[in-house]
Amino acid sequence: MSAYHIAANKHRVTRLLSVKSESSTVKTFTFKDKQCAKAEPGQFLMIWIPSVDEIPLSVLDAEKDGTVSIIAKNVGEATKALHKLKAGDAIGVRGPFGNSFTIEAKKIIMVGGGTGITPLLFLAKRIVSKVERLRFIIGAKTREELLLINKLEMLCGKGNIVATTEDGSYGIKCLATAPLETLLAKENFDVIYTCGPERMMQKVLEISEKHGIALEASLERLMLCAIGLCGSCVIGKYRVCIDGPVFTGDQLKEVKGEFGISKRYFDGRKIAL
Ligand SMILES: Cc1cc2nc3c(=O)[nH]c(=O)nc-3n(C[C@H](O)[C@H](O)[C@H](O)COP(=O)(O)OP(=O)(O)OC[C@H]3O[C@@H](n4cnc5c(N)ncnc54)[C@H](O)[C@@H]3O)c2cc1C
Ligand code: FES
Repeated sequence: MSAYHIAANKHRVTRLLSVKSESSTVKTFTFKDKQCAKAEPGQFLMIWIPSVDEIPLSVLDAEKDGTVSIIAKNVGEATKALHKLKAGDAIGVRGPFGNSFTIEAKKIIMVGGGTGITPLLFLAKRIVSKVERLRFIIGAKTREELLLINKLEMLCGKGNIVATTEDGSYGIKCLATAPLETLLAKENFDVIYTCGPERMMQKVLEISEKHGIALEASLERLMLCAIGLCGSCVIGKYRVCIDGPVFTGDQLKEVKGEFGISKRYFDGRKIAL
C-alpha cells in the first residue's frame, strides 16, 4: 500500500457542517476532511454512521479548503440512520477510494440515473470550462427523483441538459437511453460517461458499441472493506473497490455475464440485480 492509500484508509471522525433535503428520500451532507477533499470525480468514501454501519458513497463535491459533500438515498438501516443526523453530529470517514473518470476528452456526453448523478455532477463541475461540448442526459422515474437538476442546469446551461422521466412528470417521457441515440446521431462525441442503475448502463454500453464511442461507467457493488480484501464487490475478474468503480467499455465487455445481471449478496451468493 502506498503512503496515499494508508492515509486514505485511516479512520477519521468529523462533524457534519450541514444537512440538506434534495427530495423526500435524498439528502446532501457536507463536512470537512482534508484527505477526503483530495477526491477526484468517480472516487468514493466509506462513511461510518456511529453504532450502525459503514457504507460507500460517491463524492458529490470536494473543495480545496477541505469541504466535502455526499448524497445519500434513504434505502435501508444505515442510510435511514444517516438521514436522522443533523449539523454538528459526528460521522466517521475513510477514503477517497477507487479510481476516477479519465479527463482528457473534449466532446462529452454524460448519462446519469437516480443517485448516479453524483459523480457525474462532480466531474461536470471539474471539466465544464475546459471542454468543447458537454451534453448531459439526466433520467429518473419521476420529477421528484430528478436530483440536483437546478444545480446541473446552472453549471452546464439549460440547453445542454436533456431530462427524462418514466412517468412523464418532467422532461421527455422515456428512459434516459432514448435521447442518447438521438444525440449521438446528431453530433460527434469522444466519450460517454455514465452512472446509474446497472440495467441503464448496460443499454448505454450497447449503444456505445453500436456507435463506436468510448465509454466509462461507474459501478456499484456491495462494499465492506473498500481496499480489495473481502471480495464482496467482485464482478468477473475485477474488484470494483480497487479496479473501479469506473470501468471502460472494453472492461465491461469482459464481464458481460455479470454486468447488469447479477451481484454478490452479504453472504457471498450471486443474486439477480
Ligand atoms: C462505489 C459506490 C458509490 C455509491 N454512491 C452512492 C451515492 O452517492 N448515493 C447513494 O445514495 N448511494 C450510493 N451507493 C449505494 C449505497 O452504498 C447503499 O445504498 C447503502 O450502502 C445502503 O445501506 P443501507 O444500510 O441503508 O441499506 P441496506 O438495507 O443494507 O441495503 C439496501 C441496498 O443497498 C445495498 N447495500 C447495502 N450495504 C451496502 C454496501 N456496504 N455497499 C454497497 N451497497 C450496499 C444492498 O445490496 C441493498 O441493495 C454507492 C455504492 C457504491 C458501491
Ligand atoms: S469491498 Fe472488499 S474487496 Fe472490494
